[in-house]
Amino acid sequence: MSDLDSLKERPATGQPVLSATHVTKQFRVSGGQITAVDDVSVDFHAGKVLAVVGESGSGKSTLARMLLRLMPVTSGTITYNGKDVTHIKGSELRGYWRDVQAVFQDPFSSFNQFYSVGQTLRRGMGAQGLEEETLDQLIETCLGYVGLKPADAVHKYPHQLSGASLRVSALNVLQDLRANLGLTVLFITHDIGQACYLADEVVVMEHGLIVERGTTDAVIFEPKNDYTKRLLADVPDLKGSLKVRKPS
Ligand SMILES: Nc1ncnc2c1ncn2[C@@H]1O[C@H](COP(=O)(O)OP(=O)(O)OP(=O)(O)O)[C@@H](O)[C@H]1O
Ligand SMILES: [Mg+2]
Repeated sequence: MSDLDSLKERPATGQPVLSATHVTKQFRVSGGQITAVDDVSVDFHAGKVLAVVGESGSGKSTLARMLLRLMPVTSGTITYNGKDVTHIKGSELRGYWRDVQAVFQDPFSSFNQFYSVGQTLRRGMGAQGLEEETLDQLIETCLGYVGLKPADAVHKYPHQLSGASLRVSALNVLQDLRANLGLTVLFITHDIGQACYLADEVVVMEHGLIVERGTTDAVIFEPKNDYTKRLLADVPDLKGSLKVRKPS
């Protein structure tokens, strides 16, 4: 079995697909160092959406970068399907990046404005070594998924697509993909309302620490932490709109 195959082994039932265990990230800054992520442990389960919520600077992106293996950990372990991937390199790491990927919130900062949609997708998917015909089919399928007409969309440039509608459709697409393909999602947001709309479980971060975690219902209806309560107070309609889900 190749290294890539071993990465794809499915975990035993109930085992997390992806985990961060006691992960810490420190940055050296002028005048000392800061702990952006402080001994965080979090598990992702197959087909579930986990939201990480917190104000700016709480460490969400840093945690995500370490999970995506885009930034080394200071300490701790990243485990994918039961395998320690904290320090994998080369083809093993490329295999990991095929499986574990990011969708960025702001479509305009994440796309090169000089490439058409078709060129951008071709570059991204081309890196995976697919044949031309397979690539064309895949691009068509993907554009269809996000509700765009492939024949039109491949020739458009990012500024010709609406950011708001891209974001809304991204949320809906994530829901669909998870239902149809069993995709596991980490959803990062400032907005606890969006998090609760989309996620099965919510983790709240403050100053690099996880201060609250639980099922979405538990976090909304029985928040334990004051910071979580403050975030919830900013979305007064949330409980009403989700009341139907409240456990009796
Ligand atoms: N490369 C870096 N060098 C130094 N400090 C950094 C670096 N990246 C992040 N930080 C610091 O680490 C802390 C966490 O940053 P991070 O970007 O992870 O927060 P965030 O929750 O994603 O914030 P936002 O919601 O604004 O995206 C912040 O204090 C930030 O200034
Ligand atoms: Mg961030």
